[in-house]
Parts: sequence; C-alpha cells; structure tokens
Amino acid sequence: MGFKIGLLGLGTVGTGTAQILLNAQGRHPLVQEIEIDRVGVRSLDKPREVEFPEGVITTDLEAIVTDPQIDIVVETIGGLEPARSLILQAIAHGKHVVTANKAVIARYGDEIFTAANAAGAYVMLEAAVGGGIPVIKPLKQSLGVNRLQAVTGIVNGTTNYILTRMQTEKGDFADILADAQRLGYAEADPSADVDGLDAADKIAILASLAFGGRIKLADVYCEGIRQINATDIAYADKLGFVIKLLAIAKRIGEVENAPLSMRVHPTLVPQTHPLASINGVYNAIFIEGEPIGQIMLYGRGAGAGPTASAVVSDLLHLIGVLKSGDRSELHPLLSCSHDDYCAIAPIEELVTRFYVRFLTQDRPGVIGKLGTCFGDRHVSLESIVQTDVKDNLAEIVVVTHDVREGNFRQALDEIRTLDAIHSIPSILRVL
Ligand code: HSE
Repeated sequence: MGFKIGLLGLGTVGTGTAQILLNAQGRHPLVQEIEIDRVGVRSLDKPREVEFPEGVITTDLEAIVTDPQIDIVVETIGGLEPARSLILQAIAHGKHVVTANKAVIARYGDEIFTAANAAGAYVMLEAAVGGGIPVIKPLKQSLGVNRLQAVTGIVNGTTNYILTRMQTEKGDFADILADAQRLGYAEADPSADVDGLDAADKIAILASLAFGGRIKLADVYCEGIRQINATDIAYADKLGFVIKLLAIAKRIGEVENAPLSMRVHPTLVPQTHPLASINGVYNAIFIEGEPIGQIMLYGRGAGAGPTASAVVSDLLHLIGVLKSGDRSELHPLLSCSHDDYCAIAPIEELVTRFYVRFLTQDRPGVIGKLGTCFGDRHVSLESIVQTDVKDNLAEIVVVTHDVREGNFRQALDEIRTLDAIHSIPSILRVL
C-alpha cells in the first residue's frame, strides 16, 4: 500500500523533499511507498528544478488539504499564513501533517496540536528546528526517560556564520552582515535571524518537548547580535571566551515543575565548552539530563538537503507507524501529550555571570566606586581589567560571579548615575 502526499510549497525545502522522494534508490525501502500526489505552489510560471507529470502542480492549495485521496500534507511554504490555516484544514480533513515551519508551531502549536489530537492526526516537525539534525525525535523518544535540566542551542546558522566571521576576521557586525547578504548567507531583511526571533521560535519548540509543557513565546527573553562588535570579541578572546548567540531553556532548581529560564542572547562561551567549537552555518544542541549527562547533536541547520532529510525522516517514521499500528488511538511517542503551560521565570530572576564593558574618566577611585555599587547589590566580581585609554576614556571590563540579574541591573542603574561613567557600551551574559 502506498501513501499519497500533498506537498505545499516548492521552494528550497519543498524542492529538496521532492528530490529525495523522486530518487528513492539506496534509501530506506519505505521511501518508495511515498507518492507525491499533488504539489501546491503560488505561481505556475516559475522555473522548477524538479519535473512533475501534467496536472500534479496546482495553485489551489485548499484543494490539496481537502483532497480525500491525500494521506499526508507536507507543509514547506513557511510564514504564518496561509500555512497555519492550511495545516488546520488538513487536520480537519483527517490528514497527518509534516511541517518545517517553526514560526507557526512556536506561535500556534497549542491550537494545532489540540486540533490534531481531537482529529486523531499526527503533526511532525523534525525539520522545524536544527535542519538536518535529528533533535525532535531524540527529545520526544530517545531521551524521554531522562530528567532534562537544560537545552542550550546554537540554532540559527545565519548569526553563527556572522559571529564566526567577526571572530576570525576581527570585523564589525554591519560589514559582515552586508557581505553575508551579498553571498546569500543572510536574508535581505535579516531581522528574524539577527534579532534572535528565529532562535526564540526554535528554543520554544525544543523546551516544550524537553520539559513537557507548552511555552508562551512572549515569555522567551530575546536579544539579538546587532550590538556585538570587534572590541568585545577581542576582549572575550583574551578572557578565554567566544561569543555565540545561544538559545537556552533551563530548569531553575531541582524540583519537578520548577520554572524555566527561557532566553536567547549573545553569550560568552568558555573556549573549552563544546558549543564554542560550532562555527559557520552549523547548528548544535547541547542537552543535559539525568542520568544521561551531557549530549551534543551537531549538523547543518538549514539548506535544501539537510532540511529535506528531516522532512522525509518524519514521513518515513509516520508511515512506519501508520502501516503497522492500531489506528484507534494515537501512538504515544509520536503525538503531543501535554497541554499545560510551563512556568517561565522573569529574566530578573536569572542567576548568571555577566561581562560588562565601561567607558569611564581615567581618574583615581573609579574602579573603587564601581566595586562599591556592585558590592552594595551583592554582585561579586570575578575579574576587573583596564587595558586601554582611548580619547581620554578608560576602558574597564568586568566579569562577575554568578549573580541575580535583577541585582546586577540595579547596580548598573546606580553606576550610570556616577559622574565618572561615560557609557556602558556592552553587557553580555556568560555561560
Ligand atoms: N534562518 C535560519 C538560520 C534557517 O539562519 O538558521 C532556517 O531555520
């Protein structure tokens, strides 16, 4: 028995998916059982890298998601609408869905999974996070017996590419972003990537699986990389760190159901940490749990081939279950089994180390005053260095011990009022 799929979208991921399905030789035998029945596109006039028989390609996407012949809808169009509505329509018409759409799942996952559970449909999303890296299935299944404490990811290839080049070329953000756009590594409108929004979508999805509860995207603290510059990268290097955009989901405390810290921000990562060696467009997800300890999944986070590999792996997994299983109830390892929301702690409650760079008047007593302001708020300092005087201003770099972010911010508010402080160009968290 074959399975008919309706493929929505024939862009990078849709084309990559079709290329795997149309060239099944040497792959798992189940791939041969998947037949592309219809392909939905926005325009029929665009040149295509794959050819389909007459009548397969259509611009009527609704006809695909409502077609009784189709078993599984593969959504690769991206964006919020019409993707969300088409996924919901497909579910309402009894179809299973495979999607690569992190933005839709991070925002409308509750609506989509509630509808899917009610309809007895599966929604599979391996391609939504980490491109070709298997991470959804490991979190749902292979690591499911562990009590997970933290998921820390480099899940945005564009920003990792930019930061890696800034590190190796000692360049500034704007120049390298412009070059990355010219080379096709960054979008013309780069904000979803460089402002951390794409990474926030992805960590919300990963946290939901790791910690067994829904995540409100608005509760994920998010800072991008626009303010990172060559000066901080050089200081970080001298102090033994690299700067990476990390997406972090971490249980605060040992108690089950303790709140999560959920955040995306540029972070000083110790050069000895496994995530420090993830360079260029590569992604990695570092998972910590009991009893497994630490595990890191690494690979290409985007691109036609890797993302299509994840899409087709979902198809394979899905049809494997559909072929063998009792369809009267959903397979517990494939369906979404939670509907409560995880509690998320406000960023002020975060306990972390900070790196902060001050520009100050170069006169006696400034470091003493900084120390007093920090000490008054119980912010303990690990190191304080002054190396440069530029334009009559001293550059002072402080690294704190673990401190409560709320206390740290109060200390900075007081420091900003000191006469000797010219500006605070950089504040970064340390892993
Ligand atoms: N824009 C994403 C990135 C790729 O740069 O990693 C797709 O998720």
